[in-house]
Amino acid sequence: MEKKIKIGLLGFGTVGTGVVRVFQENRHEISRKAGAQIEIGYVLVRDINKQRTYTDGLQLTDDINDILKDKEIDIVIELMGGMHPAREYMLRAMEAGKSVVTANKDVVARCGKELFAMAEEHDVDFMFEASVGGGIPIITPLKQCLTANRITEVMGIVNGTTNYMLTKMTQGGSDYGAVLKEAQNKGYAEADPSADVEGLDAARKAAILASIAFNTRICLDDVSIEGITHITPADIEYATELGYVIKLLAIARESPDKGVNVRVHPTFLPKDHPLAAVSDVFNAIFIQGNAIGEAMFYGRGAGSLPTASAVVADVVDVVRDIVNHTFGRIRCTCYEKKKICPIEETVSAYYVRLLVEDQPGVLGTIATVFGAQGVSLNSVIQTRRVDDCAEIVAITHSVAHKKIEKAVSVLRGLAVVTEIRNIIRVENGQGAV
Ligand SMILES: NC(=O)c1ccc[n+]([C@@H]2O[C@H](COP(=O)([O-])OP(=O)(O)OC[C@H]3O[C@@H](n4cnc5c(N)ncnc54)[C@H](OP(=O)(O)O)[C@@H]3O)[C@@H](O)[C@H]2O)c1
Repeated sequence: MEKKIKIGLLGFGTVGTGVVRVFQENRHEISRKAGAQIEIGYVLVRDINKQRTYTDGLQLTDDINDILKDKEIDIVIELMGGMHPAREYMLRAMEAGKSVVTANKDVVARCGKELFAMAEEHDVDFMFEASVGGGIPIITPLKQCLTANRITEVMGIVNGTTNYMLTKMTQGGSDYGAVLKEAQNKGYAEADPSADVEGLDAARKAAILASIAFNTRICLDDVSIEGITHITPADIEYATELGYVIKLLAIARESPDKGVNVRVHPTFLPKDHPLAAVSDVFNAIFIQGNAIGEAMFYGRGAGSLPTASAVVADVVDVVRDIVNHTFGRIRCTCYEKKKICPIEETVSAYYVRLLVEDQPGVLGTIATVFGAQGVSLNSVIQTRRVDDCAEIVAITHSVAHKKIEKAVSVLRGLAVVTEIRNIIRVENGQGAV
């Protein structure tokens, strides 16, 4: 194997170190599979004096030009994270004729179009498998293995932190604050956990997945986002009692008349749904295609080596393209401009938990309000008393978002309703947009 391919690595943190380890430990197999010897040239870091491991044979630098101006470097791996200067460095690398591999969902979700345009202009590859689902192969399956299908639904647990928290709330009955602290102590949640718990991280991944699945550009602003901060142990208990688990889901669906809807929100998921068994920090993405039917991709959505596994696989693909002179085989697949269906026009079943005055006839009043707004109820339970009030839980049949909003606003105005405690969507298997 005569050919040598040199790489520039931007970032030597959790994933960067994993990439170096994978190249060191599996060097022989990787080179044989890629068809060339792969060598890491420079590694860009912020602080070259920091104590680090796995540095044998590596040349650290804090000057991006050492990589961009090195004509022997064919591939740049961006693992710095954040928007700037990651975006600019990737664009400059492509301008300099280098293919780019990244794990950066933030830049891919916001600047995918610009990066693909630059890759096409300079006839280089742009790969981002690790940006969604960490080590789980999902971008490549969607772009390659499932191309024969018309995808109708992508539904995923794509944030490990929140899945860990909801799993612990379900198993141990702890409240949100306690499980957040536990997740932070274990290193699963950041000191500022807002991007995870408020659903932004999952929304970025949802935008990327939906863009590829439906071949249309979905921006972050097109995704409706709701996090898990309002989920309480009471909601978890009711979910268990009614045969569901609560999961933070990224859901993307297309309907011929309404267009594409993409959203992230906590969801009552039936216990027998394949995603319901995905617990702790694991991720999974469930796909419906008109030829394959149902398929699910499951594994570790983050972590040094799992994420490095996806990054290095992208590098091997790029090396094969270099060896075979087949750059740009897989271009941007957002070749259509489809209508976006706003959340207000979606249809779903709902769980509504409310506190009411504990007096005869209240249940009938509540049911009448739902009925008057066109909301049909699947089940209603009243088992507890809270602060001298009765707690009622209603599960609706599928209903338009506007109708449930109207019903809840009428309920809020009733003297017998003390509080609407929570409203959570319920997956009832009808797969409606
Ligand atoms: N961690 C995961 O499990 C995971 C999973 C999937 C995707 N990702 C994505 O992978 C990327 C990397 O994540 P990570 O967890 O490895 O990050 P990290 O541990 O914070 O490492 C970041 C690295 O980038 C370097 N860096 C940051 N800004 C720089 C700048 N302006 N100039 C030069 N070097 C700079 C840092 O240098 P110093 O070492 O000198 O500080 C550090 O080595 C992110 O886009 C992340 O979203 C991560």
